[in-house]
Amino acid sequence: MQIHHTIESLRAARAGAGRTAFVPTMGNLHDGHIALMRQAAGHADSVVASIFVNRLQFGQDEDFERYPRTFAADCEQLAAAGVAHLFAPDEAVMYPQPQSYHVDPAPAHVSVLEGACRPGHFRGVATVVLKLLNIVQPELALFGKKDYQQLMVLRNMVRELALPVEVLAGETVRAEDGLALSSRNGYLSEEERTRAPLLYRLLCHIRSSVAGGERDWTKLEAEAMAQLEGAGWQPDYVAVRRRADLQPPAREGDALVVLAAARLGRTRLIDNLEI
Ligand code: PAJ
Repeated sequence: MQIHHTIESLRAARAGAGRTAFVPTMGNLHDGHIALMRQAAGHADSVVASIFVNRLQFGQDEDFERYPRTFAADCEQLAAAGVAHLFAPDEAVMYPQPQSYHVDPAPAHVSVLEGACRPGHFRGVATVVLKLLNIVQPELALFGKKDYQQLMVLRNMVRELALPVEVLAGETVRAEDGLALSSRNGYLSEEERTRAPLLYRLLCHIRSSVAGGERDWTKLEAEAMAQLEGAGWQPDYVAVRRRADLQPPAREGDALVVLAAARLGRTRLIDNLEI
């Protein structure tokens, strides 16, 4: 695997790389990331990954400084997964001066759920992803359903700005007990880690309730919120939404997803399940 720290080096290598699939990450890689790399390899001649902890998408009080950085171990995993090129810029390469042009996602897409809890987050994500796509110029880009709203925002950005790239989604990879893999799981204490699968279990319960005919979304959401609170979590939301735009369900037959975010101790976890 070739490692590129500059745009020039990445571009020169990419020129001869054929049909290219791109998987952007912030590093501290786990099996969820690696599954995206392997999926990418199945659709392209070469896979480009990136590792860049993007300051723009972190809020003032968020974990930018302490976000786990494990570059050497990440490189080993990427090489083993058959990634041909790793783009690993530092901030001076990505933001040589403070970024002053930004992508503002549709207000309706960022005024809900994660966007409401993390003002400016998706603007930072959309801006860096557009920039990375312009640097790498891949035919394909892959994103995980684990970050469902991010996937929705990026799909819409690609469509509305007519970016010449196809977006593919990867299924969420979970631990055996159901907890969705996440770089932030490392923040959990041992005791919190044993309690963390509750979030997934509640999503599963909502999915089976809906399959059983329940249509009172508000009741399902409130019950799950109460269970989280009762178990010592601080939930931000549990919400049954339309997959397409993450707005509340409007009619029978809408394809749905249930999404949740909750804090367990100092760690904020998100998860979702398509219904
Ligand atoms: P990061 O959190 O590192 O995630 C990189 C990619 O891996 C994202 O597309 C994310 O949805 C996917 N992913 C994370 N956990 C996963 C899991 N358990 N199963 C499947 N896929 C998973 O998301 C970001 O970085 C950043 O916002 C980024 C898009 C790189 C822009 O900075």
